[in-house]
Order: sequence, then C-alpha cells, then structure tokens
Amino acid sequence: MTENENVLLQDVKEVLIDEEQLKTRIRELAADISREYRGTEDLLLLCVLKGAYMFLADLSRLVTVPHEVDFMAVSSYGHGTTSSGAVRIVLDLKEDIAGKHVLIVEDIIDSGRTLNYMRRNLLSRSPASLRVCTLLNKPERREIDVPIDYLGFDIPDEFVVGYGLDFAQRYRNLPFIAVLKPEVFAHLFETDEPAEEELAES
Ligand code: IMP
Ligand code: MG
Repeated sequence: MTENENVLLQDVKEVLIDEEQLKTRIRELAADISREYRGTEDLLLLCVLKGAYMFLADLSRLVTVPHEVDFMAVSSYGHGTTSSGAVRIVLDLKEDIAGKHVLIVEDIIDSGRTLNYMRRNLLSRSPASLRVCTLLNKPERREIDVPIDYLGFDIPDEFVVGYGLDFAQRYRNLPFIAVLKPEVFAHLFETDEPAEEELAES
C-alpha cells in the first residue's frame, strides 16, 4: 500500500514529529541506554501496552545490552481524550521482576497518573532498579510529579496519534506523530453516549 492509499491520512491536521525525527531520536535514546546499562545483568524493558508497542520494537533492537522484554497493560477510567486518574492493571507481567533492572517504556506522559501508579506498583515488587523511558511528554498537563530518565520529545498540550498512539483505538499504525483535525473529535462526541466509566486503554 502506498502512503496515499492510507485513508487515515485524510484525518491528519499536522505531522508533529516525522519518521526521520523519530528514528534519529530513538537512536540517541538507545545509545544513552546502552551506555548507562553497559555490563548490567537482568535488564528488562517493560512495555506499557498498547501505546508503546511500536516504540519498544524500535528501541529494543537498537539497545546493545542483552535484555528481556515484558508487557503490562493498564487502563484508566475516563472519557474522550482525558483520563480521570483511576488506574488499574488489565494485563500483568509474565515474570517476577525482583532483582531485575527494570526500564519502563511508555508512549506518553500526560497527567502522570498512569506512570505514578505503575511506579508504586512495580517498586513494591523489589526490582534492583526502576527507571522510565518515554517517547513523548506533555509537561503542561502534569498533575502528579513523576521522574523521567529518558525522554524522546516534549510536546505541546495537544492530543496526538500515530506511532502506537491511538484515538478511539485508531491511527496507531501511522508511522509518525500527528495531530488530528478537530472534526474527527467532534464526530466522536456527537455520536458517543455520555459514558461516565468508559475504559480508556493506554
Ligand atoms: P496520564 O496517566 O494522564 O499520564 O496518561 C497516560 C496515558 O494516556 C498514555 O499512556 C496514553 O495512553 C494516554 N494519552 C495521553 N495523552 C495522549 C495523547 O495525546 N494521545 C494518545 N494517548 C494519550
Ligand atoms: Mg491510548
């Protein structure tokens, strides 16, 4: 399929971070991680599903330190493009992380609630260390202070999609980070019932 055949493109207002910029920055992050974890036994890259799957795939193959990957999915109750802050685990890790050097790989940090919950939960399982690598960060939206060890890009307070990130489970397969046209959101809010407890997946 050529790019012009991708029907999702017609909903894109603006490309915020293109494929080349993503590639370059992820190469730099992987180099930093490889240098700082050099010689580390038991490194685990913990991918937060679903949003971070593409980032994890690209980052993992560039990290030169031997490592495992594992997956966790969390959901927050909220609606539309914001989360209410109540977080729960919908898929837990397969392996025990006690004694392992865990690097959380996230797509985006917004309010900070998801990451704050995950950090507290994971720290109770006695990892040797726990750090955070996020592709995107929206500093203006922060409600809870969370430490970020590796950061791809700070972005403005706009809802973004692509490269793993979704809106209503779509647009994850766009190969860049983009902002959608306002009418895409308007359409959803017109047709959606007012759902107080809609489950928003990460
Ligand atoms: P937080 O708990 O408010 O920090 O939100 C974190 C989660 O909300 C992320 O892991 C994403 O799944 C989702 N999220 C926040 N902002 C965006 C966005 O702009 N686009 C897509 N998903 C987002
Ligand atoms: Mg999401």
